Amino acid sequence: MDRVGIVGAGNMGESILKALLKRGVEKNDLCFIEAKKERALYIANTYGIDELHDVAELTKRSDKVVLAVKPQDAGKVLPEIGSSFTDSNILISIMAGITISKIISLAGRSIRVVRMMPNVAIKVNQGVIGITASADVSADEFSAVRSLFSSAGLIVDVDEGHMDAITSLGASSPAFFLLFLEGMIDAGVHIGLTRDKAKAISIQVVRGVIEMLEQEQMHPALMREMITSPGGTTISGLATLEAKAFKGNIIKAIEKASLRAKELSS
Ligand SMILES: NC(=O)c1ccc[n+]([C@@H]2O[C@H](COP(=O)([O-])OP(=O)(O)OC[C@H]3O[C@@H](n4cnc5c(N)ncnc54)[C@H](OP(=O)(O)O)[C@@H]3O)[C@@H](O)[C@H]2O)c1
Repeated sequence: MDRVGIVGAGNMGESILKALLKRGVEKNDLCFIEAKKERALYIANTYGIDELHDVAELTKRSDKVVLAVKPQDAGKVLPEIGSSFTDSNILISIMAGITISKIISLAGRSIRVVRMMPNVAIKVNQGVIGITASADVSADEFSAVRSLFSSAGLIVDVDEGHMDAITSLGASSPAFFLLFLEGMIDAGVHIGLTRDKAKAISIQVVRGVIEMLEQEQMHPALMREMITSPGGTTISGLATLEAKAFKGNIIKAIEKASLRAKELSS
């Protein structure tokens, strides 16, 4: 079974830890390093896994090392990883915007790398994770890593050139969608509902739409047409949205986020 060490047990590190436990990785096969003392205590007490204090020790105990520190901390940790990795170790980086070649350059030697871009919903096992690997990770090893994270959500294989697309469509777009949801709730209040009711209705609308799309295997455009009757209420709302190029603005926002991700990783 896989032995996994996590460097940086913050928000994402903890979500990954939960996904690995859910996947059936034994507590004894897991360990972590965390810079914040209180945070480390919380993780060790909550999940009953070993806290280690140095990268070399963690590397020795783990086949796979998940790097979940902030991108700005990469320059400090990667040289330590580079000097303690053996040929059997694989680094799994979730750092936004740090390319595989940059990781290898900071590590100071050629190490095997899987790069993943998860979104926040891995916390509830409903995430989206873009995944790619350096050429020296074999197909079997790559599929073992995919399988290791399978309980965190949908895993999507991408070329590294498409990681920026995963960053914007997978990781940033929840914020765009949440803005839309906030707008729905405010609209409910604006037309006289209590905030609680407006929130409950808006969330249930979203839940129902997703459930129906999945159960009926329906395309969103088809479902929208189904509820848009001639001269009715829905088309008058849609016409208002489209007068301001609603769909075009979403396309532009996701494209803009993708370009920003590219800028940040260059
Ligand atoms: N949040 C998201 O939705 C999301 C999505 C995709 C990818 N990511 C990526 O995930 C990574 C982690 O993000 P996060 O939101 O989980 O950050 P976070 O909550 O700040 O977690 C990182 C943790 O690592 C600790 N740390 C820093 N240097 C360390 C070291 N040398 N050894 C051990 N621990 C160390 C930090 O402690 P200190 O704060 O004391 O330094 C912090 O507790 C980032 O690279 C981010 O780009 C995040």
